[in-house]
Amino acid sequence: MFNKEIYLRRRNELQKKVSSGIILIPGNTEASYNYPDNTYHWRQDSNFSYFFGIDLPNLAGVIDIDNNEHIIFGTELTIDDIVWMGHQPTLKDNAAKVGVTVTRDYSKLQSYLSEAAARGRKIHFLHPYRSEHYIEMERLLGINHKAIDNYVSQELIKAVISLREIKEDVEIIEIEKAVATAYEMHTTAMKMAKSGVYEYEIAGMAEGVTLKNNGYISFPVICSVNGHILHNHSHHNMLSEGRMLVLDAGAETDLYYASDITRTTPVGGKFNPRQKAIYEAVLAANLKGIENIKPGQANVENHIAAVTVLMEHLKDLNIIKGNPYDAVMEGAAYLFMPHGLGHQMGMDVHDMEGLGENNVGYNEIVARSKTLGIASLRMGKILQPGHVFTVEPGCYFIPALFEQWKNEGKHKEFINYSEVEKYLDFGGVRIEDDVLVTETGHKVLGKPIPKTVTEIEEICRG
Ligand code: GLY
Ligand code: MN
Repeated sequence: MFNKEIYLRRRNELQKKVSSGIILIPGNTEASYNYPDNTYHWRQDSNFSYFFGIDLPNLAGVIDIDNNEHIIFGTELTIDDIVWMGHQPTLKDNAAKVGVTVTRDYSKLQSYLSEAAARGRKIHFLHPYRSEHYIEMERLLGINHKAIDNYVSQELIKAVISLREIKEDVEIIEIEKAVATAYEMHTTAMKMAKSGVYEYEIAGMAEGVTLKNNGYISFPVICSVNGHILHNHSHHNMLSEGRMLVLDAGAETDLYYASDITRTTPVGGKFNPRQKAIYEAVLAANLKGIENIKPGQANVENHIAAVTVLMEHLKDLNIIKGNPYDAVMEGAAYLFMPHGLGHQMGMDVHDMEGLGENNVGYNEIVARSKTLGIASLRMGKILQPGHVFTVEPGCYFIPALFEQWKNEGKHKEFINYSEVEKYLDFGGVRIEDDVLVTETGHKVLGKPIPKTVTEIEEICRG
């Protein structure tokens, strides 16, 4: 964990941003996999980890704003726990490491909250995201689990986002560690991308690399020669020449900071002319999306500029016609890039998305567009120093979407359907980097991972 001053400062800042009452931030519990004691990989809740730091289950953090008191509710270990897990620090010792001096038994949390509520004090909490959290919140707060989401505190959501979205230097160091792990995942994958290899061999390597670097995957690995299936989590295909392998994979560090990188490699390590043309189009969009990142710039403008560049390249290839910018602004570009340019990234790979995509990516100054394609953008707002987000344009040939649009004659003023048809066996290309907004511009985080055609062909040659 970080030193205790960091957690203290974060809680004090949070407290200043919420008017009055009690802030409740529950930690995670273990989640069973196939029988009660066989659990999924342990993951602390990101908000709990951010403000209370302790990486253990069955805890809840409380900030009493009016009395300036920070409390951790938990349970001291029993002799049984010590027999199975060895000696562990006490709850008090753990709390002290994050600057909390008051600990109480978890069994007292419900009465603590109900007494506060009875005195008319507001209890601020965030959206739960696991069913057992909803059940526990119902028990703690006396609100039916189906109604819990109606009672989350908008004031707390805004306050948490305003803190978590501006990354501190120690957080950037963590994210760069996660990108370093991604460097190893992706460069190893490029060398492995040969005919006869199965996707699961590469996906397994990628996950193994995160574990051997004392971390874990930041989301389930996407590793596919069918790159047009955006979140393809099946890994059973064998690689063959002529296909392109999309690997969208990142790591999280032991402090839960993420990376999220995508690279696309031609199987066999040499781009054919068609692959090179589409790849160069996406690369140009990636570079355009990064070029203007600076404080004060609305990221929706970067999205539009990047997708326009993609359309310009597709026009050169006769895949689209008309004005490339208009193709973006009228929603025709969606056929080729149905997702946004990127999302915030931090302790969650889609950072804080559990607090509401629009709360994280938009505000009163920049509202989410309603235009097909631009509406998919998760991070549209004005950039500030400390923002970290992904830049991940792609170009896909999705047969089912193509058929639907062609049958409807959709956007036929922009789309050369007979030309697009020739690419339906292509798959897709995506290129993704993680970028920090600095005081004067931006920094692509981590050691550069091979990205140009030459760099990728070089690393594939070994
Ligand atoms: N890397 C997966 C995603 O951004 O959704
Ligand atoms: Mn991403």
